[in-house]
Parts: sequence; structure tokens; C-alpha cells
Amino acid sequence: MVRLSMLAAALCVLLVGAASAAAQDSTPQHFKPPGGSHRCRTGTKERPVHRLTLDNGRTFCLQLPRLLKNPEKAVAGTASFARTYNDTCGMFAITLHKSIPAGAGPVPHLHLADTEFFMPTTPGDTVRMFAQADDTPLMTYPAGQMPAFNVPPVAKVGHLDVPYGRIAYSPPGIPHSWKAATNMTNFMALWLNGFVMIPSVNVPAMGSDYLQVLYETSAWGSPTDITSAMFNGPQFVTDALSRRAGLPPTPFDELVRLQKAIDAGDKCCGDLCA
Ligand SMILES: *[C@@H]1O[C@H](CO)[C@@H](O)[C@H](O)[C@H]1NC(C)=O
Ligand SMILES: *[C@@H]1O[C@H](CO)[C@@H](O)[C@H](O)[C@H]1NC(C)=O
Repeated sequence: MVRLSMLAAALCVLLVGAASAAAQDSTPQHFKPPGGSHRCRTGTKERPVHRLTLDNGRTFCLQLPRLLKNPEKAVAGTASFARTYNDTCGMFAITLHKSIPAGAGPVPHLHLADTEFFMPTTPGDTVRMFAQADDTPLMTYPAGQMPAFNVPPVAKVGHLDVPYGRIAYSPPGIPHSWKAATNMTNFMALWLNGFVMIPSVNVPAMGSDYLQVLYETSAWGSPTDITSAMFNGPQFVTDALSRRAGLPPTPFDELVRLQKAIDAGDKCCGDLCA
């Protein structure tokens, strides 16, 4: 504890330094060349910066937005709505998960319109993504095609472990799921633009009728399958361990788009945010 407070004090000193240095630094803060040894600015207590390493070795310094002072908790599970369409002018949304036991996470689902990013924010935490295995070209499903319901299920599912310091990416139309690979302390999902977030996270908790859940979540553009049939049943969690997921590497340009949305939407929170 003493060490922590010393660290906090040291960080504050660093923050002041970083702020004045930034004024003279003409390099755009989020854009870093390949190499991986680059530091990120510290950010602020309200808007910390996370240093992310991409598959190609490039660094992206992602500055988070402020979060709601009173985030709404999801009806079930560990999620809370840390930013919603109402307080981001519809530009992005964030769900924050705290204390996620290893193995916990949502059932398979997809987002017809939203792009989603997945990021553990505590050192030592790892999230395991599940999606179509990488041995065949990744299928994107448009509205009206529902794997296991009117088109074949995703034949083979693979996994991708995403530790702290990395960020996973799922573009629209890709069936996916995630589970905590460790007992995770803090995990963040960021959505562009995130109108789907509250209904899609809350509806599956409301019933055991899989068709009703599928229909209601589909109304929000996020078909959710509580039977896991789209991944050939709940055993996908172990079946996927022998294969790698074919999720695309997180594109640098998509992180630029996310950062722009965060920066532009942050001011829409007013006093609701810390
Ligand atoms: C968003 O704002 C509208 C209009 O004020 C309100 O009816 C709705 O409940 C809000 N939604 C959330 C998720 O806060
Ligand atoms: C998570 O915590 C539980 C309870 O403390 C422990 O039994 C389990 O081994 C932990 N799992 C992992 C993957 O660390």
C-alpha cells in the first residue's frame, strides 16, 4: 500500500512533466512508427493512456475517455455501462467488466453494424477470444443469415489469447465470444458506435427461451445465441483450444478511428463523467 501511494505520487509528478512536454511536441501523440520500444504519454487520471502493441510490432497509444461517475450495471454478469450512446453523442460505447472469474464471458453472438475492441486493462490479465478458425477464409454474416439457424454453423472455432498490452478486434458480421483466460480484474470492451450495447448485453439475461433471446437481440443488430449452436454447442470453449481464431489483426487505422471517436465523443458526457 505504501509503495502504491509512492507510485501514485511519482505518477503525478510525471503527469505534470508530460503535460508541459506535450505542448512543445509536434508529433501526433497516438501515431508511433514500428519498433515497439516507444513510450506513450501518461495521460491523466481521468483519461489514462494505454500502450498497445499490434501484431506488426507497431505501438498505439490509446487514450481512454472519461468514464461515467455512476455507470449502470448490466442486468446479469460482470458488465457495467461505463459510457453509452447517450453520453458520447452516439460515437462510441464502453462496457467495463470487473472481477471476471476465469472461464466467464458471453455466449456466441455477432454485431451486424458495430465494430468491437477487447482490452484487458490490468497487468497479468488475459482474455481468450473465440471465432472461426484461421484454416478457412473468415466468413462475414449479413443480416438475415444466422449460423446454425438458416445457414450452417461456424464449422471450426479457434481461439486467440489477448494479454494486457494487446487489443483484439472484431469487425461487423463476425460471430465471436470471449471468456476470461485468467481471473481478470478489469476488462474493457469498446464499441463503434455502440447503440447495440445496452440491449444486447441485457436481453440474454432476461430469459431462457433461446429463440426469444435471438429475436430480441437481433432487433438491435446483435443476434445472440444462448445455445452456442452457431459454434456447434458449448463445448466450443475446449474444442477451440487446438486451433487459432482467424480474427483479423487489429488494424492501426481502426484504432485511429476509435481514438477520434473517443476524443470527439468525450465532451458529450458533461458532468456525468468523472
Ligand atoms: C438515453 O436518453 C433517453 C432520452 O433522454 C432516455 O429515454 C434513455 O433512457 C437513455 N438511455 C440510457 C441507456 O441511458
Ligand atoms: C481463479 O481463482 C480461483 C479461486 O481463487 C482459483 O481456484 C483458480 O485456479 C483461478 N484460475 C486461474 C486460471 O487462475
